Amino acid sequence: MRLLVTGGAGFIGSCFIRHALNKHSDYKIFNLDALTYCGNIENLKDIENNSNYEFIHGNICDKKLVRELVSNVDCVVNFAAESHVDNSIKRPEIFVETNVQGTLNLLQACKEIGIERFLQVSTDEVYGSLGKTGYFYETTPLAPNSPYSASKASADLLVRAYFETYKLPVLNTRCSNNYGPYQYPEKLIPFFISKLLKGEKVPVYGDGLNVRDWLYVYDHCEAIDIVLNKGKIGEVYNIGGHNEKTNLEITHLILKEMGKDETSIEYVEDRLGHDRRYAISNDKITSELSWAPSVTFEEGIKHTINWYLNNQDWIKSIEAKCEVFV
Ligand SMILES: NC(=O)c1ccc[n+]([C@@H]2O[C@H](COP(=O)([O-])OP(=O)(O)OC[C@H]3O[C@@H](n4cnc5c(N)ncnc54)[C@H](O)[C@@H]3O)[C@@H](O)[C@H]2O)c1
Repeated sequence: MRLLVTGGAGFIGSCFIRHALNKHSDYKIFNLDALTYCGNIENLKDIENNSNYEFIHGNICDKKLVRELVSNVDCVVNFAAESHVDNSIKRPEIFVETNVQGTLNLLQACKEIGIERFLQVSTDEVYGSLGKTGYFYETTPLAPNSPYSASKASADLLVRAYFETYKLPVLNTRCSNNYGPYQYPEKLIPFFISKLLKGEKVPVYGDGLNVRDWLYVYDHCEAIDIVLNKGKIGEVYNIGGHNEKTNLEITHLILKEMGKDETSIEYVEDRLGHDRRYAISNDKITSELSWAPSVTFEEGIKHTINWYLNNQDWIKSIEAKCEVFV
């Protein structure tokens, strides 16, 4: 299969490319990435010479380039996005440009050229926030609360519209919070590890009791590959690990692994519009496509913390570019 992966130099995209090349000797992967502040070509150093892999530096909003690349592949998996909620609160425009306009550009090229499958990688954040109980299902109405989640929900709606209107063979996945190696150190787990390594305190938003459902990144990648190959066209698939943890629980776990205590926590003013709880039902993908997470949270988080501790040069080489560090 010839596959165009967009945003493949980011956290999940780079793990997906590594995972897919290891799993399928018959995949030829083209990685289109604009290398924004969070795209890092070093994430793919181990596979840069793989003959089944090619990197293209470019933007998903570039119509001519996208058309040219789509005409050369069977399937497209779209990871490319602005993905940091805090940035979306400060500068929503770029989120509309990449996440909405960029997705539209890909869909249009896929429609004009004809493609076997277009898979849109999305997030559980499109469903909004939950109370103390209940889960997000694929049928839960979209109710995004941040400019980031609103832009992702808008893209999901365009994907749906291209299926309904033009019969474009689309698939849409919505995943919970990912953790694992290669995550840009603006996001909670690598951010906290990097702060602690510098002897600084970790900033916990509000009371720290916001709940997220955490999934190991390679389990997400495997789920995407399964949906791409076996998913039913036009369908949405939720992906989650049933690992609900408060931000404070995650913080304590990291503190413990790094030999620190409560005194390293600094409570800071809550994020605007901070969703209280996300929890996702994975019943559909587990029952229809036989996917299940393979890594327990306890194993995954230990491995992840060790990865960051053993790859401190990786963190240092990119943190200078990251706004939260300046
Ligand atoms: N991180 C999570 O926990 C999570 C959970 C669910 C879904 N998702 C979704 O998965 C996808 C990937 O997330 P991530 O955490 O790997 O993000 P990331 O920020 O690490 O990577 C995004 C990548 O997209 C590239 N990019 C940005 N704008 C582009 C453009 N206009 N053209 C081409 N490339 C561009 C960046 O250079 C970067 O390599 C996103 O669509 C995100 O919404 C993420």
